[in-house]
Amino acid sequence: MAAGNQIAPDPLAESGATHLTVVSNRGPVSFEHDESGELVARDGAGGLVSALRPLLAGSGATWVASAITEADREATARGWMTSDGLDLVTVASNPEDYAMAYDVISNGTLWFLHHHLFDLSRRPRIDARWWEAWEAYRVVNGLFANVIAERSPEGGTVLIQDYHLSLVGAALHERRDDLLTSHFSHTPFCSPEMLRVLPDPVARELLESLSAVGARGFHTRRWGDLFTRCTQSMRLPPVTTFASPLSPDVEHLKTMAGSAESLRARQWLDEQVGDRKVVLQVARAELSKNLLRGLSAFDLLLEEHPEWRERAVHVILANPSRQMLADYVAYQAELEHLVQLVNERWATSSWTPILMELSNDYPRSIAALGRYDVLLVNPLRDGLNLVAKEGPVVNERSGAVVLSREAGVWEELAGLAIEINPFDIAGTASAILSGLTMPEQERSERSEGIVHKVISRPAAKWLADQCLAATGKEESC
Ligand code: F6P
Repeated sequence: MAAGNQIAPDPLAESGATHLTVVSNRGPVSFEHDESGELVARDGAGGLVSALRPLLAGSGATWVASAITEADREATARGWMTSDGLDLVTVASNPEDYAMAYDVISNGTLWFLHHHLFDLSRRPRIDARWWEAWEAYRVVNGLFANVIAERSPEGGTVLIQDYHLSLVGAALHERRDDLLTSHFSHTPFCSPEMLRVLPDPVARELLESLSAVGARGFHTRRWGDLFTRCTQSMRLPPVTTFASPLSPDVEHLKTMAGSAESLRARQWLDEQVGDRKVVLQVARAELSKNLLRGLSAFDLLLEEHPEWRERAVHVILANPSRQMLADYVAYQAELEHLVQLVNERWATSSWTPILMELSNDYPRSIAALGRYDVLLVNPLRDGLNLVAKEGPVVNERSGAVVLSREAGVWEELAGLAIEINPFDIAGTASAILSGLTMPEQERSERSEGIVHKVISRPAAKWLADQCLAATGKEESC
């Protein structure tokens, strides 16, 4: 065990943290069996992982994550692992508990709660199965707390990430009150009114656990303020929050953009779209990402502005997500259906207006970000949204960014991106049109402005802010 190790990135050293443990559901690697049956490690998926991995590589920190698949469990049984200069600890819950906690509570309840996604006439259904799942969520969180408590050296710093692990803070505090802890939410936080859909003891337990850590972080002050209002609504003692937005790793993005896989993907895209303008969306096929209204807005644009027919292609690169949940399966089917309808309506012998690819292909996403004229980022509600920051870093056409004011990143990019209300289809269509027709100099100034924001607030600062907040070196806001 790497107890007492030093953390490599300089900003972390300032916090005085002597041993850093990062805790998240998905880890930096996931395991699978290769053709010969050997256990091999692959890069873990998801925005949080891709942001954290380069920051922690070589730091000697410990990363505690779930063993999600059977192969992950097998790797866990073999003990501690080292990857990229990190000690990797996987927590192997009972698979049934894990599935209930992940599908029913983390994704089916907490994700919907914080993103205000519930179709309240149908969900949530707080029934016997739900309570069973809540119990499983508590068990999984408790197991994380046990593992961290056993492995952490005296006075170590523990940075817990996201809604899958909302109860780890309190459980850990009970076992090890010497540890310096922080919980960072990558999602928005729900309003006090929305919180009321949860049974009171559950809402209370969630808030109390998040209050039990040393510091609570969010990508924007807006989500932190909602957390505070939720605690007030339940008459809980006041606690502070801090806001620190994440940025993508610029070097990593540029390296990816120049990789052979991305260059191949770029060639493929160029063949598909020719010299037409590209309106791009890159997102998980996820309800909060609002892909359906984006499509309707493009459809409306073609209807009202015939001059753009044949001259623009709406490229959607959607990564299939959470196919264990009926809502997601239905959403993806509706998406495919709508693409078909819009294409049937407008396609000509030489032009298909919508090009949608449903797959998880990171190099292709990076390649497409290089080629857009308008990047459409229109979530209904989003903790941050890294794509809005990644796009301008690799884009080669000074493309415009059309951005939902409901994304956490809006706070940083207001005045640089084109604002939309994501529910307003006509407004979104006219924002896309503004992006397509904006003079090149203005597009270029705005795009450079976004890159400047990204560079001036690097991802290491976000990590350092968590360490500083956990160690009490920086005043929480
Ligand atoms: O938005 C926060 C986040 O943790 C992302 O990192 C990730 O993409 C998502 O939520 C969780 O997705 P999944 O259920 O696929 O792990």
